[in-house]
Amino acid sequence: MTSSAAAASFRCLACGAPASLSQTASDCPACGGLLEVQADLRAFGRSGAEWRDLFDRRRAALPSEASPPFQSSGVWRFREHVLPDLPEREIVSKPEGATRLYPGRALGDELGLSRLFVKHEGENPTLSFKDRGMTAGVSWARHLGLRDVACASTGDTSAALAAYAAEVPGMRAIVLLPHAKITDEQLSQALHSGAVTLGLDTDFDGCMRIVTELTRVRPIYLLNSRNSVRIEGQKTIGFEAIQDLGWEVPDWFVVPVGNAGNISAIGKGLREWLELGILGKKPRLGGIQAEAADPFYRSFETGFRERITRVAGDTAASAIRIGAPVSHPKAEREIRFFDGVVARVSEEELLDAGALANRHGLAICPNSAVALAGAAKLRERGVIRKDDLVVVVATAHALKFAGTAAAYHRSGARLANPLRRLPATLDAVLGALGT
Ligand code: F0G
Repeated sequence: MTSSAAAASFRCLACGAPASLSQTASDCPACGGLLEVQADLRAFGRSGAEWRDLFDRRRAALPSEASPPFQSSGVWRFREHVLPDLPEREIVSKPEGATRLYPGRALGDELGLSRLFVKHEGENPTLSFKDRGMTAGVSWARHLGLRDVACASTGDTSAALAAYAAEVPGMRAIVLLPHAKITDEQLSQALHSGAVTLGLDTDFDGCMRIVTELTRVRPIYLLNSRNSVRIEGQKTIGFEAIQDLGWEVPDWFVVPVGNAGNISAIGKGLREWLELGILGKKPRLGGIQAEAADPFYRSFETGFRERITRVAGDTAASAIRIGAPVSHPKAEREIRFFDGVVARVSEEELLDAGALANRHGLAICPNSAVALAGAAKLRERGVIRKDDLVVVVATAHALKFAGTAAAYHRSGARLANPLRRLPATLDAVLGALGT
């Protein structure tokens, strides 16, 4: 991307072996462990202040008719820190990122959090944070000249993969979904974008196993977050939030955890920024799960002595219905480094938190609500303090889960706002309004 950049490469988290970023297998060729991308960002020779200044100038620049979409992307604003070796002309961008950071004042007051912000990743092009990793993953696949790309998904990764692949002539997206365990809205995204869409009679973990095998026996590029190129794009959630706070580092990032890619990505990005002197302090990380799908929480409770997996049960937070998080080792490392905490919330807690956020005008999904409910729980326990600056990452838009919201309001739950059906008369309407 610039001539002074040191080339990025993979390194195995388990055995330390290096591998080329152009290898198409997502695991370590030596031991099968998880890989991660490493780049010598110091080779750019910029100080922390110089990096901040560069990113501020890019954010302030107004796009012209001639500028390519990536120039307004909140991912590629940080391009040297995402994929320094990717030629700009090969970037596939809609553009994504540059999502809003909402000050949740009234919402925070209700939860006892005086400095709550919600980073609304549902404002991405396919309505979830997955677009950040996918712009990196699909751009890299195009750079490598690959035709077939695949993922297993609880609905959002597949929507993003399908929509990004649709922009690349000749690229074919193949998505494996747990049949009847994702929402119709998410399913429609993959179908409409033209992906080969396969519903398997299993859960997400079953789909993940099969897609991993598939990409070993056929020349198909895996674009789950097991492919750490995707992690590089997802790092930018943390970058953007901090830039939006005028470079004030929050006390907490609170994130819902499913396959554990996102919390790993946010942690990796923050670690890199600490090393480069862009940040002067460490935030803490809160990883939150639903009770029905809580393997990472259970592992945390053992002090990470055990890596617990389970069969994930039914939850309204269906995008994080995962029993064996692939990125567990990376997420564990970040929780340790950032003095993190893992908590879990009940269905009632997550549904009520989602309803509360929406009532305050924040159209967040049930998975995002897991993080919000978790932040409230950590506040109640005194782990998060009242005046802590807290960024809750809302990972997808409420409208991907419209059925869940409709059911909530039919259910008699605490914040239910039921539809009232009336005869078509003015009197009936006046009667319903009262005085
Ligand atoms: N929130 C939403 C809306 C998600 O779609 C996901 C993951 C997560 C949170 C959890 O992120 O897996 O990185 O810990 N969805 C994946 C998918 C699994 O297939 O769409 P994670």
